[in-house]
Amino acid sequence: MDVPSSPKNTRKPIGFAPPFIDDDTIRAVERVLRSGWITTGPETAAFEKELAAYCGTDAAVCGGSWTGLAGVILDWFGVGPGDEVILPSYTYCATANVVLHRGATPVMVDLPSPLNQDGFNLTWDAVFPHLSARTKVIMPVDVGGWPTCIGDWTTKLEHWTTSHGFQANSEVQATLGRPLLLLDAAHSLGASIDGQSVGAQADLSVFSFHAVKNLTTAEGGAVTLSLPSSFDPTEVGKKLRMLSLHGQSKDAASKYHASGRDAWRYDVIAPGFKCNMTDIQAAMGRVALARYGADLEKRHTLADRYDAGFANWGPAHLPKRRDERRQTSDHLYALRLTDLIETERNDLIQQLREVDIAANVHFQPLPLLSAYAQRGHDPKDHPEALAAYACEISLPLHLHLEFEDVDRVIDTVKRAHAVILSQRTPGSNPA
Ligand SMILES: Cc1ncc(COP(=O)(O)O)c(C=O)c1O
Repeated sequence: MDVPSSPKNTRKPIGFAPPFIDDDTIRAVERVLRSGWITTGPETAAFEKELAAYCGTDAAVCGGSWTGLAGVILDWFGVGPGDEVILPSYTYCATANVVLHRGATPVMVDLPSPLNQDGFNLTWDAVFPHLSARTKVIMPVDVGGWPTCIGDWTTKLEHWTTSHGFQANSEVQATLGRPLLLLDAAHSLGASIDGQSVGAQADLSVFSFHAVKNLTTAEGGAVTLSLPSSFDPTEVGKKLRMLSLHGQSKDAASKYHASGRDAWRYDVIAPGFKCNMTDIQAAMGRVALARYGADLEKRHTLADRYDAGFANWGPAHLPKRRDERRQTSDHLYALRLTDLIETERNDLIQQLREVDIAANVHFQPLPLLSAYAQRGHDPKDHPEALAAYACEISLPLHLHLEFEDVDRVIDTVKRAHAVILSQRTPGSNPA
């Protein structure tokens, strides 16, 4: 099925989210490569400080991926068999996998009904009915970079805990005195609520620096700490770093810099994981963070252009990007074409592909995927997530785009949509 050609269809390929690697990044990586120290060391330590300052938090810890760090956090909090972790069904598999890796139970929550109360995010009202004596962690997801309104969730959790005779089942949970609010902020670095960066609202917020993310270190991630005062952020940071390096009491840099006869010796305090960040990754991250304000501005401008192009176009339901309190990080431009059924949405993606425009879908609700279906998660229990998914299309949004590229995407989406409608059986409207 071809989109009728227009003079604008120049067929310059438009990728979905190619990384933006500038000369400064290449120089920074070269500097580290030539420095003689390439694994976790001074660059990672500096990046952690800069991230904490950027997010306005007590501390940050870097790691090899969102997945690695989230796993380490669940271990630190003592999550294991018998524990429940509340998370949305509308997310990437990583959010649930880290729970399953610990033998705990992911409690998958459908999007709020009716759909689109808060973009593709969970609300407290959607989460609340799923709280139980076994709830150990609540893990909302900032889908596409739109920040979940979690400002008062910790207070609500405290009230719930008091009224439900809560009992901690790990030492760290006893210190917290309630379930942990762990934000999946994989998409939302630089988003804000009431002018405060994401990272400062939840107990812990985990960002991803995977290759397609707004800020990339090829693979990587970071957690920012904003725990109650009963925790010492420096100590928690040390513990998380230790757990991300096999539970070793000293990392390679501390062993290297230690003096004395037993400088080489270390203990293994807990059977930790291996997901530390290298200094090569941190060097990339530091350059990207220094220019991140400008990068975000460009993303906002491009997304504004999409908004303007699709505004007042009947089938288009635009992503939530700003309200009186919140600002997105514009990680994804997640458009919904509400008059299309799933197969038609798929056709539309294929038509874009045929003119070298890459698009994607965020997300396939987890119960549609074999690993979770086999564990008893049933798509029928997630009608809102399925409805959101069926007509969602994520359009290219990255720093290589210019306005004319965005205009070409908008034009092509509208033309492809018209082709799809024209091919329907007369009188039918499947959506
Ligand atoms: C919502 C969400 N959570 C978690 C992850 C996992 O991130 P990472 O690849 O850094 O482990 C991703 C990655 O795309 C994601 O989209």
